[in-house]
Amino acid sequence: MMKKLKTAILISGSGTNLQALIDACDKPDYPAEISLVISNKADAYGLTRAKNAGIVTKIINHKDFLSREEFDKSMHAEIIASEAEFVCMAGFMRLLSEWFVDQWHNKLVNIHPSLLPSFKGIDAQKQALDAGVKTAGCTVHFVRKEMDAGPIIMQATVPVLPGDTVEILSSRILVKEHECYTESLRLIASGRVKIKGDAIQIL
Ligand code: GRF
Repeated sequence: MMKKLKTAILISGSGTNLQALIDACDKPDYPAEISLVISNKADAYGLTRAKNAGIVTKIINHKDFLSREEFDKSMHAEIIASEAEFVCMAGFMRLLSEWFVDQWHNKLVNIHPSLLPSFKGIDAQKQALDAGVKTAGCTVHFVRKEMDAGPIIMQATVPVLPGDTVEILSSRILVKEHECYTESLRLIASGRVKIKGDAIQIL
């Protein structure tokens, strides 16, 4: 039986990317397993998804801490206690401190609903619509201290169609997010993502 990569997932909301990762980890030959789900929001539906899957959940409310770093240190302690060796941000809507990013250097990834480096930050799908681009998409990347930056592991594109609203485009991108995230974690957990500095090689 191969050793699966114990992974902690950070969420803040609906958790559809978390659900995609839960479904992927259900497959016996998938090389990762989820050891913990942390949400900074008590009402995140992703917590229900995790509980339904029998996954340990923790709510760590960022409002309970005096600083970003103290909140991050609390998350870090729970992640270590869960024996997770890798961390996936999945709809996690907090900027992580430099301290946390350093602790999990090259063991922390995020998914962003745009083709980075275009359209960093919030409302990326709306930014794409407002810019009039004809192609949008998503990016899975290693996290660095700069927001929505870091070496890119995988991207996927979708067309922007006439009449698209933010909701319609976001839903179209979300389908690709789920595919990209599960495939990215599979590659990482299989040891097929090699990173040196900011250069990535996928074997
Ligand atoms: C997704 O578009 C994700 O890229 C962004 O938040 C949206 C919701 O994600 N960060 P989820 O359904 O909570 O996984």
